[in-house]
Amino acid sequence: MNYIEAIKERHSVRNYTPEHIQAEKIVKLNEKIRELNEAGNLHLQLMEDAGNTYNRLLNRAMGLGSAPSVIACVGPDDDTLEQRIGYYGEKLVLFAQTLGLNTCWAGTFNKKNIGAEIRNGEKLVISIAIGYGKDKGKPRKSKTMDQVVDAKGERPFWFNNGVEMALLAPTAINQQKFVIKLNEDQSVEFIDKGGIFSQVDLGIVKCHFEIGSERAIGKFF
Ligand SMILES: Cc1cc2nc3c(=O)[nH]c(=O)nc-3n(C[C@H](O)[C@H](O)[C@H](O)COP(=O)(O)O)c2cc1C
Repeated sequence: MNYIEAIKERHSVRNYTPEHIQAEKIVKLNEKIRELNEAGNLHLQLMEDAGNTYNRLLNRAMGLGSAPSVIACVGPDDDTLEQRIGYYGEKLVLFAQTLGLNTCWAGTFNKKNIGAEIRNGEKLVISIAIGYGKDKGKPRKSKTMDQVVDAKGERPFWFNNGVEMALLAPTAINQQKFVIKLNEDQSVEFIDKGGIFSQVDLGIVKCHFEIGSERAIGKFF
């Protein structure tokens, strides 16, 4: 499965089987985490036992309490941390999808129970539930391309492909509060229209756009 296929197959999954992630997949996830932490200056951590991370009322109502494992999204606290978490965290989510695992980004969780290492100057931003879903999730409502694009005239193929994948990006409460702007010099800008976790969302959107457009769009952060 390539990353475009992973994007198309990925949906948030909130109900998991009790099965633990197999040892060889844990090794692969940890290798990927090491690579992403280095690229993004992050401290993402796979907690094999999610324990009571998802014991909050809202989690139990939504089902996330069944997730066997969790990724703690931690990093040095600076202006770009949330976007970097979104961008590199989503790369991990898509990698997990290629391994046959399911995931759900979760801003609502019990920070005290996740058991992550948080060094001096670091911040725990968000969690990602991970395991084998009871189902594979399902497609949800989405904004249209025209609702998220700011561009004049004809739009190049690569730009539309990027936007198409960006519309499949998970965002907090499915808010999709971003605009992708194509400038006359063909450079691309990503605009945050605000909302809860919107900077994490924007990083996720950049990750999807980059995969869809097959272009490095320049300096992201
Ligand atoms: C930053 C962020 C935070 C999220 N927080 C939660 C959460 O606390 N609980 C939850 O059940 N889902 C959460 N989600 C999942 C979104 O509700 C989900 O991605 C969105 O509805 C789109 O659905 P999809 O992921 O299936 O495409 C979060 C997603 C993102 C990107």
